[in-house]
Amino acid sequence: MLIKRRRGWELPESAATPEAVYLNRRALLAGMGMAGIGLALPSLARAQGAPRNERYKLDRPLTPEKLATTYNNFYEFGDSKNIWQMAQSSLKTRPWTVKIDGMVEKPIEIGVDDLLAKMPLEERLYRHRCVETWSMNVPYTGFALSALIDLAKPLSGAKYVVMRTLADPRMFPKQREFYYPWPYTEGLTMAEARNELSFIATGLYGKALPAQNGAPLRLATPWKYGFKHVKSINHFEFSDKRPVSFWEKMGPDEYGFWANVNPNVAHPRWSQATEKPLGSEERIPTLMYNGYTEFVAALYTDLQGEKLYK
Ligand code: MTE
Repeated sequence: MLIKRRRGWELPESAATPEAVYLNRRALLAGMGMAGIGLALPSLARAQGAPRNERYKLDRPLTPEKLATTYNNFYEFGDSKNIWQMAQSSLKTRPWTVKIDGMVEKPIEIGVDDLLAKMPLEERLYRHRCVETWSMNVPYTGFALSALIDLAKPLSGAKYVVMRTLADPRMFPKQREFYYPWPYTEGLTMAEARNELSFIATGLYGKALPAQNGAPLRLATPWKYGFKHVKSINHFEFSDKRPVSFWEKMGPDEYGFWANVNPNVAHPRWSQATEKPLGSEERIPTLMYNGYTEFVAALYTDLQGEKLYK
């Protein structure tokens, strides 16, 4: 099913924070005496702002930044939505070493700033649909996961990319609770990971990604429910085995590997037909693949026997 775009709703250029991105970046460069030599930008600054890729449009208003950064799911800090202050005081994202290993030509350990310096950063406007039925529309800065895959050089037998959150109970207090299957783990097939929409976010609203939103690296696959979007990643492993993810271990009857948004397939405990955008009083219809059918439907044509929608 193709999305019917309601052109009139499309976000005006000015509402999508490009000014913030460009002005911040220009002010930063000017302040550093580096205007015009963007290539010399330190990578921490590179995490913050980048030119917007116009290919990814929203047909709904952008969520106010305050809401997207204060209403979060991050179980390492607790099961309430109000964890942003705790995350900010507890999570230290520098230094941050990223491991890329498993079925690759040569395993790598690389500091996050060195990794960012190698990645083509851009801004994208993405929808986010949580399985709990709230949703948001946000500008992420980051890079296509395919760029990291190119760096990793996986072997031909690799079938999945497995991504894990840092395991460190000093920074993530709830990791001391053994009831949960830490570290938070998620995975994509290689075809999904190489899909153009699969994105590693490093920034939000033209600024460095806040701790509570999954700094310094978080996955964004906007056609899938938000629980796939693993936060604070420090490990990318290429494997021929499908991983069992955090929520799949917690509740296999309710959560699975694919987690593609589908308004016609209810969660066992609630309907997925509608959603409530953060900050809005109204519920709106949820779209197939969260509105990204044209980008991703072909990934699943041969997989109809799989439980694609939980
Ligand atoms: N990643 C980790 N490590 N821990 C989590 O609890 N929650 C997931 C996902 N990534 C989660 C996580 C869920 S359920 C959602 S909906 C999104 O993060 C929420 O992202 P946001 O807080 O930036 O909106």
